[in-house]
Amino acid sequence: MENFSELIKKRRSTRKFTDEELSQDEVVALLKAALMSPSSKRTNCWQFVVVDDKEMLERLSHCKAHGAEFLGGAPLAIVVLGDPLVSDVWIEDTAIASLMIQLQAEDLGLGSCWIQVRERYTEDETPADEVVRELLDIPLQMQVLSIVAVGHKAAERKPFNEDNLLWEKVHINKYGAQ
Ligand SMILES: Cc1cc2nc3c(=O)[nH]c(=O)nc-3n(C[C@H](O)[C@H](O)[C@H](O)COP(=O)(O)O)c2cc1C
Repeated sequence: MENFSELIKKRRSTRKFTDEELSQDEVVALLKAALMSPSSKRTNCWQFVVVDDKEMLERLSHCKAHGAEFLGGAPLAIVVLGDPLVSDVWIEDTAIASLMIQLQAEDLGLGSCWIQVRERYTEDETPADEVVRELLDIPLQMQVLSIVAVGHKAAERKPFNEDNLLWEKVHINKYGAQ
């Protein structure tokens, strides 16, 4: 367990992974983090599809026009689904779960990257979630928010530099007051 302040500084999106597979313990840890995510009214509207099949990862990497290519080189992906019939805030719940997976990945020394699926399209305007739904046999009522790619980092990225934080985004007591 890293110090949390250090962990959030170190977490940068990783899109290049080594060939090393994840251990079963690592995968279980990622899923535990997902399943412990906060959810509105504890409705747990999310579900997760774990993909480690190379051919499937390659196919998923074409689910949208840009920004998913690197999935073909990742050892693992967790597809994050939400059920709008279970929760009206499924987007928030699934977004939090996606980030929980990323933070757990970082804590394990792994790299990760969020791949947006909701509201994204292929070159020919097919919704990315339709592509993913078809590939993974996802039931119609479930929505696909994201795919989180996880693996061993091929290279470390620079951590956040606290000197560059956007403090002007923060307002004290009233908007505009800093
Ligand atoms: C909602 C959301 C959607 C994102 N979608 C993608 C994506 O489709 N492909 C990708 O490569 N990165 C994606 N990212 C990662 C961002 O590009 C990345 O977080 C941002 O550039 C900041 O870099 P950092 O994570 O290293 O701090 C997404 C991140 C978020 C939060």
